[in-house]
Amino acid sequence: AAWRSLVLTLFPEMFPGPLGQSLAGKALDKGLWALDVLDIRDFARDKHRSVDDTPFGGGAGMVMRPDVVDAALCAAKDGWTGRVQDGEEGSGRKAPVLYLSPRGRLLTQGLVRDLAAGPGVALLCGRYEGVDERVLEAHDVLEVSLGDYVLSGGETAALVLMDAVVRLLPGVMGNEDSPGEESFGEEGFEGLLEYPLYTRPAEWQGRAVPEVLTSGHHEKIRLWRRAQAEEITKRRRPDLWARYMKDRP
Ligand code: ADE
Repeated sequence: AAWRSLVLTLFPEMFPGPLGQSLAGKALDKGLWALDVLDIRDFARDKHRSVDDTPFGGGAGMVMRPDVVDAALCAAKDGWTGRVQDGEEGSGRKAPVLYLSPRGRLLTQGLVRDLAAGPGVALLCGRYEGVDERVLEAHDVLEVSLGDYVLSGGETAALVLMDAVVRLLPGVMGNEDSPGEESFGEEGFEGLLEYPLYTRPAEWQGRAVPEVLTSGHHEKIRLWRRAQAEEITKRRRPDLWARYMKDRP
């Protein structure tokens, strides 16, 4: 079965958005992954179809109501998370429910790989100040953050997460087999930032391409690229460099 994502949002028109284009869009058309969207407002029950309310204890902004979000999450689970759980393809694994929030566990390539290896995800997108805490507890939701900055809602974060996952799926980038292979860094330069890239013309505005790249000497090229990747990582991301060195016996 193809990898499936189900987005719960107050702004369903934001999907598929950019994921309807290019690589992800073609993969979507080919059925290599599936995207379903639930409008959380459809689960509002009162006549004003209200989805939010003021926070207990006071303070700025509004909070998404637990009863409304619960109804949406239950529908999501009935709709397909349950079926995946029952094992269409025998994996028996349940698609996790993720809530995009700056409080969450940082999204890393490692988490992206884990998600790509599973049956799919349900992505809860918050608006306003956020979602009532109790509904996150009740549904065993995993909070995931893109980084230490604040977006106006979870939708753009959900798009980023799906983009990162979809490019790893079998058949999407020509990676027919193990999606775990291709990764942050490249060609076995796992954990390093990418080396610099060049294409024609060989000289442009007085700047020449590094000579080794036009030498045809594949081993020299590989070593040059590794040295460049290490240099750039050391200089720009000492945190990644430290982890890279620690992981290497
Ligand atoms: N929603 C708002 N800010 C976010 C962030 N940094 N990561 C994920 N979801 C968010």
